[in-house]
Amino acid sequence: MSAETTPAIDRVQIFDTTLRDGEQSPGATMNAEEKLMMARQLEKLGVDVIEAGFAASSEGDFEAVSKVAATVKRPIVLSLARTREADVMRAIKAVEKAERPGIHIFIATSDIHLKHKLMMSREEVLDAAVWAVSLAKKHLDYVEFSAEDASRSEPDYLVKIFSAVIAAGARTINVPDTTGYAIPNAYADLFRHLIANTEGGDRVIWSTHCHNDLGLAVANSLAAVAAGVRQIECTVNGIGERAGNTSMEEVVMAIRTRRDVFANVDTGIVTEQIYPTSRLLSQITGIPIPINKPIVGDNAFAHEAGIHQDGVLKYKETYEIMKPETVGLQSNRIVLGKHSGRHAFVDRLKEIGVEPGQIDMNKAFERFKALADRKKNIYDEDLMSLAAEGATRIPERYELLYLNVTSSSMAVPHATVKIRVDGEERLDHATGDGMVDACYKAIKKIAGAELQLERYGVNAITGGTDAQGGVSCLVRENGVAVTGQGAHTDIIMASALAFVNALNKLEHRKRYQQQLRNVGP
Ligand code: KIV
Ligand code: ZN
Repeated sequence: MSAETTPAIDRVQIFDTTLRDGEQSPGATMNAEEKLMMARQLEKLGVDVIEAGFAASSEGDFEAVSKVAATVKRPIVLSLARTREADVMRAIKAVEKAERPGIHIFIATSDIHLKHKLMMSREEVLDAAVWAVSLAKKHLDYVEFSAEDASRSEPDYLVKIFSAVIAAGARTINVPDTTGYAIPNAYADLFRHLIANTEGGDRVIWSTHCHNDLGLAVANSLAAVAAGVRQIECTVNGIGERAGNTSMEEVVMAIRTRRDVFANVDTGIVTEQIYPTSRLLSQITGIPIPINKPIVGDNAFAHEAGIHQDGVLKYKETYEIMKPETVGLQSNRIVLGKHSGRHAFVDRLKEIGVEPGQIDMNKAFERFKALADRKKNIYDEDLMSLAAEGATRIPERYELLYLNVTSSSMAVPHATVKIRVDGEERLDHATGDGMVDACYKAIKKIAGAELQLERYGVNAITGGTDAQGGVSCLVRENGVAVTGQGAHTDIIMASALAFVNALNKLEHRKRYQQQLRNVGP
């Protein structure tokens, strides 16, 4: 085909909101270091926009947005903001070091939100939106405007407010299905109406942002693209409020796999980075990936039925519509072992996307050697877990030194734990309902803290009986919740490490809050 006859391919921007809307999912809280590690990976994945947080919502979020803004180079980095002066100015301050800064301003537009939440009239909402966009525009060029609950808003009111914010300088117009209420055909029709009738609609990027309450977030996003939308807001693994957001990996692979349907569009995603990104997020947040999750679940490319296996062996495409390598899946490949040296270790980490500057390589290599003594084969998943642990390591007040747990069908489980606290060794014992319970009670006695364990989960990081167990626990103290992570070939040990990690994170938060109080407003 000659250059003249090649159809033009439009870029569909991928706007990743894992660090903002995704983080709003219960238990997905990430600290600034964790967000930074994710942001670096998102840049490698090739996303166009990173929504790094909601700067005005907390000091922690402000710090995280600032760090991401100062670090990533290619994607636009933005912060969410309400139509309030303090929000807008805080968001602008947070992204000031970004190579490509932006702001995302939102206000609700449905009558139900106006009447019961905002207590504002349509005119007042329109004025607030235009005022906030104009204010932001004085400081930076890239302004996105979102009409929260757009899918339940009156279409002609949306036309009015969008025309007004475009005149004030908005570059991207987002039409969120905030409550996951939309149905693909109707949502696509809404976009057609908006694009055709909004003044200046041809000058902006139209954007979709869907929630998955009816399991339709990906379908709605794809319908929006077919109707002319050129930005998809989504999250890795589809994490987010309630049932989550549009899943990045699903929507990207649908566009790529069905080129016959989406002939004139493409994303800039480096699909081979999908799997590592998905696993990294799961390691950091402790939110497991369901085994049947499309694209990244353990069973996504597994063929169980004999007839399927037979077909795949004869010709892969009988049952496979995508190649596992395309999404970066090279699972359970033995990569290293006890005799592997530092060189091989560093090289393999680089191959899976972890650069030496991102983690303390000496410590990571020590942990690798300790793991290789307990476990014969080390897989990429093990290395990813080591790297995530290293990168999110924070100053440690508590260090687990010793653990002894006994249990039998005839005896009450009993744990003895020794922990170094601020350099001083402390030992305590406890009994419990099970071994993990006994161990956690002993740790709580040593820490002397009022801690509630709100969630506990364990999963095998790889296959095999010597696989590492990855434990994640959500721990709350005085209203502050953190997720602790631990990995070990012994799951009681992994549980203790996860709990101690949570204690260190809580301590880190307390110290950070204290520093802010000392510095003053
Ligand atoms: O779901 C939603 O409406 C949002 C907006 C803030 C864009 O997340
Ligand atoms: Zn949302």
